[in-house]
Amino acid sequence: MKKVFVVLCISAALAACGGSKSGSGSADSTSASNETAKTAESNADTNATKTGTESTASTAPGAKLIAANDCSTCHKVDTKVIGPAFQDVANKYPATEANIDTLANKVIKGGKGNWGDIPMAAHPTLALADAKVMVQYILSLKK
Ligand code: HEC
Repeated sequence: MKKVFVVLCISAALAACGGSKSGSGSADSTSASNETAKTAESNADTNATKTGTESTASTAPGAKLIAANDCSTCHKVDTKVIGPAFQDVANKYPATEANIDTLANKVIKGGKGNWGDIPMAAHPTLALADAKVMVQYILSLKK
């Protein structure tokens, strides 16, 4: 009977028997945290790649947010794409609190009329604070 118990114990692959003695519990949690670290690493990689391709020069928080959003689909720093070049936007609006506010709200709500008839897409999920950081960065690109 004792032998059977031992066999059972081994065949249970250390899971139930002496789990705490062998430390299999802590081994599990170590591998779990390794996985978390790996995920964090690969996220960082993705962000780095994005920032690298979207904006060559700047690692400003506003530039990173712009790289992480869809802005670059329609905007480039120095050339008009679908939307105006960010430099043109900067030349048009002085970086005042009021302008930053108005433009940040426009980025969130979308709209047209200031540069032509093509509307900018709305970004309703964007936080106003983030939009302001982006607009601040855009207005800093003034030539
Ligand atoms: C679908 C294309 C598109 C996307 C995506 C887009 N824009 Fe625009 N954006 C435009 C167009 C078109 C205009 C010109 C609107 C106008 O004529 O008033 C514009 C205008 C602007 C302006 C100037 C607004 C004004 O009233 O003068 C700012 C600032 C701006 N975009 C920032 C952003 C930011 C930041 C993002 C990313 C969160 C973004 N845009 C994403 C197309 C886009």
